[in-house]
Amino acid sequence: MTVEQQPTRGIVLAGGHGTRLHPVTAGVCKQLLPVYDKPMIYYPLTTLMLAGVREVLVISTPRDTPRFEELLGDGSRWGMSLSYRVQHDPKGIPDAFVVGRDFVGTEPVALILGDNIFFGSELSRTAQEAVAGNNGATVFTYPVNNPSAFGVAVLDAQGSAVDIEEKPAAPRSNLAVTGLYMYDNDVLDIAASLVPSARGETEITDINRHYLEAGRLQVVQFGRGMAWLDTGTHDSLLEASMFVQIIEHRQGLKIACPEEVAWRMGWIADEDLAALAGDFAGSAYGAYLTELLA
Ligand code: DAU
Repeated sequence: MTVEQQPTRGIVLAGGHGTRLHPVTAGVCKQLLPVYDKPMIYYPLTTLMLAGVREVLVISTPRDTPRFEELLGDGSRWGMSLSYRVQHDPKGIPDAFVVGRDFVGTEPVALILGDNIFFGSELSRTAQEAVAGNNGATVFTYPVNNPSAFGVAVLDAQGSAVDIEEKPAAPRSNLAVTGLYMYDNDVLDIAASLVPSARGETEITDINRHYLEAGRLQVVQFGRGMAWLDTGTHDSLLEASMFVQIIEHRQGLKIACPEEVAWRMGWIADEDLAALAGDFAGSAYGAYLTELLA
């Protein structure tokens, strides 16, 4: 069942240098690499879809944006709208709201980083409730054993944010701020006003601190029953693939299949799914889509 919600635009930020994965990413960007049986971007894209977001902008590099367009198309086959913009320099995550300003217009917006993989039974409902209930900004935390690698949230006993820091050397909690964010329309002006940090990029954490200081930052804690996977190194990318393989083999269900999500969300009908399955005839992926209808 879906939660009543206001229309929200979605952005998948899928550019960057990808230097940590060189030479694998020398010719193609990270978010096009496979995570087991699908391109990485399928995972964050379907997370937005499960949140009920049907109008999505994909932002990537000048080299890779046409490749995303070729892969994903205009979204109509999934009952959604996909559009594309180029980020000429990886100036920082908040630049998504500068590049995507016209796309967002006067709507609220959900941002997901193109290398973030979420999996778990609470995902869809939690994300839909956050879209419906967002009043300012909503971030999602996840306990990790290496918080220094992330934005870190410090919460009080009631679970309200007290502080949020980007990659602190001495983290004051183990709660990483994940790469899924929901904002009201004020984020466009906040992003436009930011100055780069010491590493030469604008920081999403500065946007979140802005909402925190205004008393308008909500924190949703994903629990240990969720999986939030990293794909930033060769090892974590391989582990993410193995995680997806293990779950899919065990359940016989696919993680992050946009055709299936669109069908389960009621955005496409049975006959549409059958036609999409036909496009993948001869592959295990096509057989899976056909089996869903049976
Ligand atoms: O994954 C969650 C973390 O993402 C958060 O905990 C941190 O607060 C947040 O700063 C971010 O940290 P990262 O170190 O992972 O950010 P990175 O610079 O690697 O960028 C994340 C993704 O966004 C990456 O796949 C590349 C893409 N990107 C990044 C920048 C700066 C762009 O497409 N354009 C950009 O300008």
